[in-house]
Amino acid sequence: MEKQIFTKELAAKLLPVRNPDGHKGDFGRVSITGGSVGFTGAPVLAAYGAARSGSGLVFLGVPEPVYPIVAGHCLEVMPSPLPAARGKISKDAFFPILERLNSCDAGLLGPGLGRSQELPKLISKILEETETPLILDADGLYAIKDRKDVLRKRAEKGLLTILTPHEGEFHYLGGELAAGRETAALDFAKEYGCILVLKGPGTVTALPDGSCYVNPTGNNGMAKGGSGDVLGGMILGLLGQLVAAHKNDGKYTGNSIRTEAIEQAQKESSFLKETGRMTALAVYLHGLAGDLARTELGEYGMLPSDLTARIPAAILELQ
Ligand code: APR
Ligand code: MG
Repeated sequence: MEKQIFTKELAAKLLPVRNPDGHKGDFGRVSITGGSVGFTGAPVLAAYGAARSGSGLVFLGVPEPVYPIVAGHCLEVMPSPLPAARGKISKDAFFPILERLNSCDAGLLGPGLGRSQELPKLISKILEETETPLILDADGLYAIKDRKDVLRKRAEKGLLTILTPHEGEFHYLGGELAAGRETAALDFAKEYGCILVLKGPGTVTALPDGSCYVNPTGNNGMAKGGSGDVLGGMILGLLGQLVAAHKNDGKYTGNSIRTEAIEQAQKESSFLKETGRMTALAVYLHGLAGDLARTELGEYGMLPSDLTARIPAAILELQ
């Protein structure tokens, strides 16, 4: 096992350098699919997690009945209504979701999605059909718990999938915690060829190559519904920037975004490694935003929306 504590020095080194001449396409187009009747905040928190992490464009697809409520909370992110049944996204949403994902650099499926009979088939079909790098969280994880073969299939095709379960979600995914958090996360990542973020104090980011990062930031003021949604959005935001930077390589010679991380990873010809580091950076910044919120507000009263508000200050600490 190749285990590394994710230090502030490493975080600062990996933070992508923003191209001074960049336009929004250079910083990633990302898509979030989630929300349902009763869960209107989760997709918005995720969307702002991505936007505050530097994304160029953030799209948000939610079931039609909650669209007006969600849209009322969106200024800088772009919501759109999706076909729905009984307050949740329905199977008729397949093509609109796929079309959006295929035009984006990265996608997040799950925040506030809810659970229905239709969702497992819909979510696994999306995983099979799109080549866009994907993050699965919350009920997006629940939807694939009996269809984990789609993860292997994506890995075999060289497609990137990131899973972000807390211990309860990891358990119903079939993860075995008895061997310890790091070993458990690594075993799962290897078995399914995905990046596995096992959340909780000391969040573990495990890669299929046997390496993992343990996160030192964060506190129990973050143990409140919604903190995980912010993290999903932050991983999405940084992943979108990484993918966009790769797409721009060569096209914008001289002013493409270049980071030490990307250059090093390219030498290793290992996009997975690079993505793993970017994921661990998002986890670090999420915890740091939480630590800043605790200093100002205390661990009782701080809220997940206070995390999104402090992502800029967390990033500034690394610059
Ligand atoms: N120390 C450090 N970090 C912590 C701590 C702690 N004591 N407690 C929580 N966190 C962090 C976790 O590492 C994670 O990043 O806060 C985040 C919590 O994320 P989740 O457990 O996913 O919680 P969240 O999604 O916000 O709320 C629960 O998840 O299981 C689903 O649908 C369920 O709506 C529910 C939701
Ligand atoms: Mg969660």
